[in-house]
Amino acid sequence: MPDSTLTPQPVSENTCISIQNATISYGSYEAVKNVYCDIPRGKVTAFIGPSGCGKSTVLRALNRMNDLIEGCSLRGRVLFDGADLYDPSVDPVEVRRRIGMVFQQPNPFPKSIYENIAFGARINGFTGDMDELVERSLRQAAVWDECKDKLNESGYSLSGGQQQRLCIARTIAIQPEVILMDEPCSALDPISTLKIEETMHELKKSFTIVIVTHNMQQAVRVSDMTAFYNAEAVEGGSGKVGYLVEFNETEKIFNAPTQQATQDYVSGRFG
Ligand SMILES: Nc1ncnc2c1ncn2[C@@H]1O[C@H](COP(=O)(O)OP(=O)(O)OP(=O)(O)O)[C@@H](O)[C@H]1O
Ligand SMILES: [Mg+2]
Repeated sequence: MPDSTLTPQPVSENTCISIQNATISYGSYEAVKNVYCDIPRGKVTAFIGPSGCGKSTVLRALNRMNDLIEGCSLRGRVLFDGADLYDPSVDPVEVRRRIGMVFQQPNPFPKSIYENIAFGARINGFTGDMDELVERSLRQAAVWDECKDKLNESGYSLSGGQQQRLCIARTIAIQPEVILMDEPCSALDPISTLKIEETMHELKKSFTIVIVTHNMQQAVRVSDMTAFYNAEAVEGGSGKVGYLVEFNETEKIFNAPTQQATQDYVSGRFG
């Protein structure tokens, strides 16, 4: 693990989000420590690792979603386009508009398919052609054909996989720069999963994507970069502490990792 002194790193042009020595705690429990990771712009970055190693915790730090969890705090820095996301002058609501999130369970609003897209866009001040925005967003999320004849029906009338693509469309519609996805396919069947993966290849042309997945094949199929996290018991501590083991091109992480733990994990020896 790197030491805990905060040394600001120069951020390259290609870096969208720079995590610099982030340690995230729940109360006094340090769940994940000393994470350094530069998330490249316009690529898909996967977070992998065994349960409890802090993948979701780090992901939620990237759009200040952890602010909503009582007692959760962050030391270190997260820079977005070079600016400190946690600076007191930064509005977390604006952060979440620019860095959107798709959750594990599809969670459409209890509204029509059309309104699922239009609602957030309107709240965010969109005044353009709403029909056009709804169609474009649903098309980008590869769910337009399944929705176009039932735009006024409830979002709940769709299948789980379609609902998840609706949620992706809703996220895209407010034109974020980054999309965070926490196990977006874990509640879905294999066909829906493949559809979402196909959408991601399309989406990375316009967005930076960070995805947490337990599915190794998925990480290989969709991501350009992979971060492998692990967790270790700490002496005298009650819980385990998570940390980033290795971050590199996906191809390297899966075929020629530098760390034994990475090799053991990607070959299915633990986790
Ligand atoms: N809201 C919370 N309050 C207290 N502790 C939490 C909270 N959320 C997560 N933790 C703890 O932080 C550690 C990391 O959890 P996290 O959910 O980030 O792991 P994960 O890698 O996403 O795991 P999984 O693969 O099971 O989703 C775990 O020990 C977990 O129990
Ligand atoms: Mg998780």
